[in-house]
Amino acid sequence: MLPKPLIMDHPLIQHKITLLRDKNTGSKEFRELINEIAMLMCYEATRDLPMKQIEIETPICIAKAKIISGRKMAFVPILRAGLGMVDGMLALVPAAKVGHIGMYRDPQTHLPVEYYCKLPADIEERDIIVLDPMLATGGSAVDAISQLKQHGCTSIKFMCIIAAPEGIEALTAAHPDIQIYCGALDDRLNEQKYIVPGLGDAGDRIFGTK
Ligand code: PRP
Ligand code: URA
Repeated sequence: MLPKPLIMDHPLIQHKITLLRDKNTGSKEFRELINEIAMLMCYEATRDLPMKQIEIETPICIAKAKIISGRKMAFVPILRAGLGMVDGMLALVPAAKVGHIGMYRDPQTHLPVEYYCKLPADIEERDIIVLDPMLATGGSAVDAISQLKQHGCTSIKFMCIIAAPEGIEALTAAHPDIQIYCGALDDRLNEQKYIVPGLGDAGDRIFGTK
């Protein structure tokens, strides 16, 4: 069965996404917001981590208590814009390793062009969350996840802040086994394949390159 995209409609996430969308929000605030939203989304996206019971000694007595068990995690931002989400994720899971996949969309074809890939040596043994604030046509996410699967990865989630229906459809069709976490599902893509209403070019707004 296809996993449905999980839209995170928590008021704090929705409020911060509204601030992100505002064209008057400058790079410094934009970066802070992206990280804060990633941290809030990380809380939800790690809800299904397996737990195990251990015995500890509190100052009062011996007690049974829960800790996270299972595989270690890795975050894989799609460069550039995915980088903006990494610190927020690491704030909650500081022991995670970070891999990088570099892609840009060709301005004419809108197809992704890969230019970099550096992953932790044991990436296939980790639970992975791929990070990119924008899921537009879905081409970048589809290719990044294919790349991870070629490296033997089997446990992969995808987290974005804003998605277009076209991107959700493409990603679900190409990788039906991937759970998508998304902060907002927007209306559509425009002719330049930008998300409407969206927030513009996420990479440019994070790094101030416009
Ligand atoms: C943006 C965004 C995604 C991609 C989404 O990156 O960060 O990676 O576009 O579009 P898609 O779903 O149609 O593939 P961009 O290509 O602008 O590169 P940048 O992050 O370096 O600015
Ligand atoms: N990439 C962006 O940064 N924004 C969009 O709206 C689409 C792709």
